[in-house]
Amino acid sequence: MIAEARVRELRARARHTLETNWRAGRLRDGTPYAFTCPSPPRYRHQWYWDSCFHAIAWSHFDPPRARDELRTLLRAGRLDGFIPHTAFWDWPAGWRRAPLYATRSIRGDRAAESIQTPLIALAWEIVADASSDDPGFRLESLDALRAHYDWLDRERDPDRDGLITIIHPDESGLDDSPKYDGVYRWMRHYLPGYFWLVERHRRLAYDSSAIIERYEEHVEDVLVNVLYALSLRSLSRLLGLQDGGREYAARAARTEQALLDRCWDEDSGLFFDLAGRRERPVDVSTWSSLSPLALPALPEDVARRLVEEHLLEPRRYGAPVGIPSVSLEEPSFRPGFHLYRCWRGPAWINTAWLLVPAMRRLGYVEEADRIVGSLLGAVERHGFREYYNPLTGEGLAARRFGWSTLLIDLLPDPNG
Ligand code: GLC
Repeated sequence: MIAEARVRELRARARHTLETNWRAGRLRDGTPYAFTCPSPPRYRHQWYWDSCFHAIAWSHFDPPRARDELRTLLRAGRLDGFIPHTAFWDWPAGWRRAPLYATRSIRGDRAAESIQTPLIALAWEIVADASSDDPGFRLESLDALRAHYDWLDRERDPDRDGLITIIHPDESGLDDSPKYDGVYRWMRHYLPGYFWLVERHRRLAYDSSAIIERYEEHVEDVLVNVLYALSLRSLSRLLGLQDGGREYAARAARTEQALLDRCWDEDSGLFFDLAGRRERPVDVSTWSSLSPLALPALPEDVARRLVEEHLLEPRRYGAPVGIPSVSLEEPSFRPGFHLYRCWRGPAWINTAWLLVPAMRRLGYVEEADRIVGSLLGAVERHGFREYYNPLTGEGLAARRFGWSTLLIDLLPDPNG
């Protein structure tokens, strides 16, 4: 049992971090915005998946801000349903950022033209459940949410197998994960060739279908599709059984089945991304390989193999602190800090946020508590850092990192 006083203290620190990173204002044309930046000064814009995580954390203290964060994210999108990876709002990404951010023009834009792991409907449902002060929130943007998931289905699933495709490694949010090394090779996220990848797609005006058809460097990514399926389930519940709800539930089931049929590898007991036009399985063990655990419909024998053979196995993911982003057994595993490489071993809090509830559901309660307790200790010692060394618990990289406050979502609420 974790003492209530520790949880209260953690919640106070989380709230302070989110408040410090909060940005609100109006553009010159009057458009309002309000969001949490991940960690100034390094990350001062609005990122898609960070914002969803921030909104979930905000929903514990201040549901109005949680709602504004998600409304702002929707407003960053286009009428056709596209929602960007990054929205720059009050800090336009000028030409210096063009090599790194997928903007349409190199002179700078209001938002990127790439996507990020699309979990807005999942976050929307969680925030709506916490919005007794504004019950209308649940239904207010259903058309826009539908348009977003329709866009992903139309533009990012050209082979119609139910799995959506990413065309840049950072579209999953796992920028430099070693699972992309063999796919993007000299165009990996942290190599100069990445600038060419961005520029090459800019020249095709970020037309996803054209890019997927013309080039080999794209991935049906397991983590992206897990959060896509969970979000389709959320959208179907938001819509209710009438009014299209059934259609999105059917789409979710199709994606879940495709993950099982096409990405599950019986021999290793892991899920692998499918790369390129030939859909080659990428057999590198990263936390993405474990992420289907979060799907409630996953067959129990598959889920138990993920937990027992991998997540709790000390030679693989059973590290002293948190859940490593890459299996300790992989030759690419690096637990420490690097300025440009962050998903090659360190433990992140969103990883635990996704996997720990599934462990609890399956009855691994003590093990789940141990993981949460280890992260709590790390945050108490080092603050909300971007990530932690899974072998020592040392806090690394950005400070006051917004989504690390998600840890409160894994702890009992002392007020309720
Ligand atoms: C890093 C992370 C990415 C995150 C962004 C903003 O690029 O890899 O997942 O969205 O920072 O925090």
